[in-house]
Amino acid sequence: MCGIIGIVAKIGNVAPDLVKGLKYLEYRGYDSAGVATVEDGVIHVKKDKGMVDDIEKRMGLSSLPGSIGVAHTRWATHGAPDQVNAHPHTDCENKIAVVHNGIINNFNDIKQRLIKAGHIFKSLTDTEVVPHLIEENMKSGLDFKSAVFEAVKELDGSFALGIVSVYEPDTLICVKKESPLILGVGKDAMYCASDVSSLVPFTKKVVVLDDGELAVLTPTSYEIYRLPDFSRKDKTPIKIDLKVEDAFKSGYPHYMLKEIYEQPTALSYTIRLQEHYLNLMADLLDRSKEIYIVAAGTSYHAGLIGSYLLSKMARLVAIPVIASEFITSYGDTVSVESTILAISQSGETYDVLKAIEYAKSRAATILGITNVLASTLTRVSRVYIHQQSGPEIGVAATKTFTGQLAVLYQLALIAGKRRGKLSQRELDDLKEAIHDIPRVVEETLKKTDPLMKKLAEKYCKSKFFMFLGRGLSYPVALEGRLKLLEISYIPALAYPAGESKHGPISLIEEGVPVIFIAPRDETRKYVLSNIEEMKARGATIITLGEEGDKELMELSDDFIGLPPVNPYLAPIPYVVPLQLFAYHTAVLLGRDPDRPRNLAKSVTVL
Ligand code: AGP
Repeated sequence: MCGIIGIVAKIGNVAPDLVKGLKYLEYRGYDSAGVATVEDGVIHVKKDKGMVDDIEKRMGLSSLPGSIGVAHTRWATHGAPDQVNAHPHTDCENKIAVVHNGIINNFNDIKQRLIKAGHIFKSLTDTEVVPHLIEENMKSGLDFKSAVFEAVKELDGSFALGIVSVYEPDTLICVKKESPLILGVGKDAMYCASDVSSLVPFTKKVVVLDDGELAVLTPTSYEIYRLPDFSRKDKTPIKIDLKVEDAFKSGYPHYMLKEIYEQPTALSYTIRLQEHYLNLMADLLDRSKEIYIVAAGTSYHAGLIGSYLLSKMARLVAIPVIASEFITSYGDTVSVESTILAISQSGETYDVLKAIEYAKSRAATILGITNVLASTLTRVSRVYIHQQSGPEIGVAATKTFTGQLAVLYQLALIAGKRRGKLSQRELDDLKEAIHDIPRVVEETLKKTDPLMKKLAEKYCKSKFFMFLGRGLSYPVALEGRLKLLEISYIPALAYPAGESKHGPISLIEEGVPVIFIAPRDETRKYVLSNIEEMKARGATIITLGEEGDKELMELSDDFIGLPPVNPYLAPIPYVVPLQLFAYHTAVLLGRDPDRPRNLAKSVTVL
């Protein structure tokens, strides 16, 4: 998705810091970038298609003069990814510059009206109506701030805006409506940005904006106003504990590999969650007439596993639903007795937030699991868990997925305990198992990384893969498939192993690689017969199983042995070799595993 950053400082040129901030936003996925600054009554704009570093080399973004400015990474929604459509956008006289993340639904009506009033548009974007609308309001006699306020009231849609002008060269105005935006409070400088990680190089003091809030920033002050009456709102900054080095690669070739290897450490933070919030969540789940787990992509796969764990450990029925399908499929059933457990590492996924907004309108209880402090999900949830996996920059979710599983496991454990569904012995065993999981993952990484690299070298030219698993291993198969296809672009299918004979087996012919996830659990004996079925038709059998599982090894062309683990926790170590396989395959195919084509880290649009 698009990323925005704005800075207003007392002295000095802000362009270098704007470019630095853009680097922290790159992980959101983009196809063009730009910077605008204000100095001596002139708006200076440099922008183009391409990556920030390339544009910097070509155009010298950092050389722009001025102690106030805005910058943007664009993921095209309206208008092709090119120089004209790149942000920032300006008004007819180049006296107002705007950057925007989101979608303005009614931009065409506004644009037609402004064209009739004589405005000349340069781009095809929805964003460009904003500077022209402000310009038009100023022509009718409003000052800059009032012109912005009135313009924003007319906009319909989701938008985070950063706005500067030559009229008030020490004032940066930012607006938050549905798209993420956060303020940074610095020493003699103020910041606004799409997410907290891009503020880390400048300040650890942040102010969270809520939907429908505008902030007027000067180098030493910030004022917050609420739409539609522009009533003042006082908010005090909160301190964040992100470290700058956390957001860099620490020597790994890609963020994704760094984050795969961070999983033991990240999991050790997640399993030290405060029980208070887990207890609160478990109580609210216990009181619900029905529970829906709502998520997208990888987080949905975590939701499938969460649904299984709540059923097995707490005898709670929680229906996993893909976020974009929730309103259509279950909207009419939601009531005050419903609970939505939303899972979103970014806390900003549009489909998840829309589902929540609908459920809230029907008085449902909202619970959230997220990895981003101060994200929208944390603000719309009655109770939320911050999974503390640390910043995840790679577009492909890895450590945030296993972090979500660790949260869900602890939630199911506590719910099972409070509902009297687990004996003390079971509780002790399960608690011991989760505290051992960072070690199991550490051992899995060491053992399987070289093997998965070899496997990738052997199979990276394959045109298709099938991933199969039963029970808890089916969502692991789905996740392994998503990892592979989203960063290597190889088509793949994931299916419940028991269901594969009802259709997918027709895809099998000599040499088709089929990856089975087969830990030593209650489904293993059935998986063995599924392997036989595939083998009999010429499939190449790749299996992930417990080390020393001779029966499995004999059936496999390639066997990857993992350390013994409690079956309920198996998805956490078993997904690791699949993450590594996807990563190595993508690198061998010359893909960028951190920024796969067409994808974004946070999908904040419909
Ligand atoms: C996962 O690797 C993908 N990047 C994508 O499916 C992602 O999981 C999905 O967009 C949901 O994101 P969220 O967890 O931030 O809501």
